[in-house]
Amino acid sequence: MIQLPGLIDTHVHLREPGATQKEDFETGTKAAIAGGYTVVLDMPNNPETTTSLKALNKKIRLAGEDRDFTDHQSEKTPGKRAKIEHPSRIYCDVGFHFGASPDSIAHFQAVRKKVFGLKIYMNHTTGTLLIEDKKILEEIFSSWPSHKVIMVHAEGETLEKAIRLARKFKKRLHVCHLSLKDQIEMVKKTKLSNMDITCEVTAHHLFLTREDVKRLGPFGMMRPPLATKTDQGALWNGIKDGTVDTIASDHAPHTKEEKQNIPTPNGIPGLETTLPLLLNAVSEKRLTMDDIIRLCHTNPARIFNIPIQKDTYTEIDPNNRYSINDKHLFTKCKWTPFKGMGVKGKVKRVILRGQTIFENGEFKTGPIGKVIYPAS
Ligand code: DOR
Ligand code: ZN
Ligand code: ZN
Repeated sequence: MIQLPGLIDTHVHLREPGATQKEDFETGTKAAIAGGYTVVLDMPNNPETTTSLKALNKKIRLAGEDRDFTDHQSEKTPGKRAKIEHPSRIYCDVGFHFGASPDSIAHFQAVRKKVFGLKIYMNHTTGTLLIEDKKILEEIFSSWPSHKVIMVHAEGETLEKAIRLARKFKKRLHVCHLSLKDQIEMVKKTKLSNMDITCEVTAHHLFLTREDVKRLGPFGMMRPPLATKTDQGALWNGIKDGTVDTIASDHAPHTKEEKQNIPTPNGIPGLETTLPLLLNAVSEKRLTMDDIIRLCHTNPARIFNIPIQKDTYTEIDPNNRYSINDKHLFTKCKWTPFKGMGVKGKVKRVILRGQTIFENGEFKTGPIGKVIYPAS
């Protein structure tokens, strides 16, 4: 048995509110714990975007923070305006990212102590947060507090635009889901120029290529799309040479039915498969346990200023061999593009603040997660 610190996934889409047919706070955080994560940071591209203090507070409340708040259902019944107890609904700790939009700039000051990063969508993907206008982008970059991270979805050549803006306004830039060799090279070069830039890769870009799309069809479609073997090799080299700072799941569930619609929504679930795939890479000597700790705990905590909890661990059995299947998944969408893949290395037990929350495939407690805020 090996004990890792509680792992952190800084890029997940828990879908609540607005798309709870795909995932909700309960199912998404159960998937996180079962996948070995004790902290996840949730993205703002819900149908009702996280782009105001009100929308952010609503998410916090839905996750179960503000335990007693007026129940709006009972407000409809005169005389029954009871304050009700809302237990926490989350199994792991959850923090939030804020979304950039022309209207959200006015809320930056109000939310800055509550959120971990600002997410800017510079290309089309799920949701309505795309921003391409240069003037608006400049206003966003200049307004976000300099000590906090700006995360960008910037595919292909858009990355250069994001780097230019971060340099001009002296901001911290974290590039999400790098997928191409050129992008890795650009980030590597930018790091040498002394700019405060960090980057993330996802498990799907590390373990799948565009060859797999033939087999997976819509279930292999996400943004950025799966790339070539050469691109994939560059991501692995980026891990080895220190260019890559974090590995995230970009857990982006859609239902099976939705995935078979045209147009296909982009995104795949990943919370329960990322660590098993990484552990398997350790068993094949493509990665070390220290790499996993650095990429999925130490660096995420440092970059996003995440408070570290006491007595919080993920125990893994490095010798357990099995094939990934979709039967035991806790994610509401109940599918994975990695189905059938043989791996070695399994999550055995997860301990949150001294309590065993998950062991041998089963939950041992109720939802004991907390909404978290940046450490400073
Ligand atoms: O594939 C993706 N899915 N890429 C994104 O950038 C968004 C995500 C989602 O929310 O579905
Ligand atoms: Zn993205
Ligand atoms: Zn995402």
